[in-house]
Amino acid sequence: MQSVSEIKSLRSQIKAWRQQGLSIAFVPTMGNLHNGHFSLVEKAKNLADKVVVSIFVNPMQFGATEDLDSYPRTLDADKKGLADIGTDLVFTPTVEAIYPNGLEAQSYVDVPGVSMGYCGGARPGHFKGVATVVTKLFNMVQPDFACFGEKDYQQLQVIKTMVKDLSIPIEIVGVPTQREVSGLAMSSRNGYLSDNEKDTAKVLFQALSNAAKTLGSGNKDFANIEQQAKESLLQNGLTPDYFAIANAITLKPATLEDQQLVILAAAFLGKVRLIDNLQVSL
Ligand code: PAF
Repeated sequence: MQSVSEIKSLRSQIKAWRQQGLSIAFVPTMGNLHNGHFSLVEKAKNLADKVVVSIFVNPMQFGATEDLDSYPRTLDADKKGLADIGTDLVFTPTVEAIYPNGLEAQSYVDVPGVSMGYCGGARPGHFKGVATVVTKLFNMVQPDFACFGEKDYQQLQVIKTMVKDLSIPIEIVGVPTQREVSGLAMSSRNGYLSDNEKDTAKVLFQALSNAAKTLGSGNKDFANIEQQAKESLLQNGLTPDYFAIANAITLKPATLEDQQLVILAAAFLGKVRLIDNLQVSL
């Protein structure tokens, strides 16, 4: 596996592969890789001849009071894991390379509509930071495909919308969430949880599963299902941030006519904010 931190070196390798007629799939990450990330790489390997993974903890998507400084950085272990599963190139740019003029002077990409509410409401500026860095990384890697986890469902819709709106010639591929045996969605932030807390955290998936079952049984009293779920989270040690049933594409609140739904949830366990979702086809 090649490891490259300079944009120039990345571009010259991409150019060489393109001259050989090879296709490229890209997996952007912030590192601290787990099986969820590795499943994105496996998908990428099935899609294209060459797989590029980026590791960049993007300051632009963190709020002032969020965990940018303490975000887990495990570069050596990440590189070993990526090499072991056959990644072709890992790109590890510095903050200065990505934002040479600083964050304030940086042009940005803002995706209206799907960025609003849910995590976008709770974390102002988050999706602007995500859309901007992903656009920059897309322009550097110029892949045919890019893989994103469905665990960050709103992020996936933001990227899909952005690519469509800006006519970016990259196919966005969503990859199903990887879960622990308990149902807890794999996430880099699970590293902040003790074993006991991980046991409590699985309640989020249970609440989503119960809500999905209720919807599947034909109950369309969305407000009541959301309320019941929030109460059950509270009773089981989680503080709900949002629990919402939405149209799976627009992320607008579900209507009685919608067939493709997504249940989006975020909850706090102490200071750790957990997110998860389930898609439901009626
Ligand atoms: O999902 C993530 O890890 C990040 O939001 C991403 C897409 C790598 C952008 O920094």
